[in-house]
Amino acid sequence: MNKMWAGRSRKETDKLADEFNSSVAVDGRMYRQDITGSVAHAEMLAGCGIITPAECDAICDGLKGILADIDSGKLEISPEAEDIHMFVEAELTARIGEAGKKLHTARSRNDQVAVDMRLYLREESATVVALIKKLVAAIAAKARETKDYVAPAYTHLQRAQPIVFAHQLLAYAMMFVRDAGRINDAVRRMNESPLGSCALAGTTYRTDRTFTAKKLGFDGACLNSIDGVSDRDFCVELLSAFALVMTHLSRFAEEVILWSSWEFAFVELDDAYTTGSSIMPQKKNPDMAELVRGKTGRVYGDLVAMLTVLKGLPLAYNKDMQEDKECVFDALDTVCKCLEIFAPMIATMKPNRDNMLRAAGKGFINATDLADYLVGKGMPFRTAYNTVGKIVARCIDLGKTLEELSLEEYAAFSDKFGDDVYDAISLRACVSRRISEGGTGAASVEKQIRFVEGFLG
Ligand code: ARG
Repeated sequence: MNKMWAGRSRKETDKLADEFNSSVAVDGRMYRQDITGSVAHAEMLAGCGIITPAECDAICDGLKGILADIDSGKLEISPEAEDIHMFVEAELTARIGEAGKKLHTARSRNDQVAVDMRLYLREESATVVALIKKLVAAIAAKARETKDYVAPAYTHLQRAQPIVFAHQLLAYAMMFVRDAGRINDAVRRMNESPLGSCALAGTTYRTDRTFTAKKLGFDGACLNSIDGVSDRDFCVELLSAFALVMTHLSRFAEEVILWSSWEFAFVELDDAYTTGSSIMPQKKNPDMAELVRGKTGRVYGDLVAMLTVLKGLPLAYNKDMQEDKECVFDALDTVCKCLEIFAPMIATMKPNRDNMLRAAGKGFINATDLADYLVGKGMPFRTAYNTVGKIVARCIDLGKTLEELSLEEYAAFSDKFGDDVYDAISLRACVSRRISEGGTGAASVEKQIRFVEGFLG
């Protein structure tokens, strides 16, 4: 294939080298952003008197025609092209002739690719945030449904204290709300235009970078042209935000897997989001949740790959940077797929109120409340804690729960026990008395649901 840079070469590049060098299979997906950036650039060139209005019209019409033809499938992005930028420019020149050759005045692929990436990721980030909102909406609805389902909460995966199931679900909602915030922050910082930085040092033409920046919806033009072409912080920031989304999805996935096991049976997943076994007829496997947990590693890998690409690079552009797209696009695609599947899986999941309550009734999860009861009767907390420890040990010997111990049995440990002890340790009371801000009490849970609904807008 005829190279645009062939003037300097004495011979054709090796076919293998061409294939190795080409990024069009990966960056072809940015064709729209590439064309949008080029239209803005051409208009700027005309506005500054660098090309004529007629040339600008020919370029812009040509570019819009290419866009329409790629969109409709009439024009296939050639896999032979070096990258999407070369492809569009070559196609433009083939269509409109000489004027097409003027488009690349006062520009380089170095600022072009940086602008394309920022435009593309700005749009795609909005898609990720929209998907996060869908998931959060599903969690909020499930939280409303389960706001008085008493369940055990765990530390060290040992039954710890009673909560309402909604409280645990809402903890995940908080994580995803923060994730959306992190993505929006990254987008805010990336919204500066590198266009016009050219190869690295700027240009001798009197260009108007503010015009192209505004036209493309950027807050302004980046201040340093070397930074403009070599900065990929925005890729790292987005990748880190995506990695954290995956961490949260993966923890949630792990809980869904546990909850849907026979041992817990706190939830039943809808058949639409589970699979069977090829040999064991009884099986209903939480494959979607497991895959999400499994795919988390890929996204971490993408983040580490991106950081590693950048760490030893001298300024300004180096071809290593072409690797940015595979990392970012893979992470983006993965995070979108995972969010897409997770939302309906949560929306259709059936929580089992009885099983949760039964599990909460075992394991002495009201022991802290028993200690608090004694504190209420004037015993110092540490003494109460020791006393309850002995009572629990006694219950284990007797094979009883705290609720099943008689008042005489309680009296052997302290004279502070009265009839009111049973009310104090009933699971429902334990939950509703957790009135502290952010606790599992009803008012706090309602406040959390409202907060999450507010985020959804
Ligand atoms: N395909 C290249 C990339 O993605 C475009 C920039 C090429 N610039 C250059 N000086 N070779 O990084």
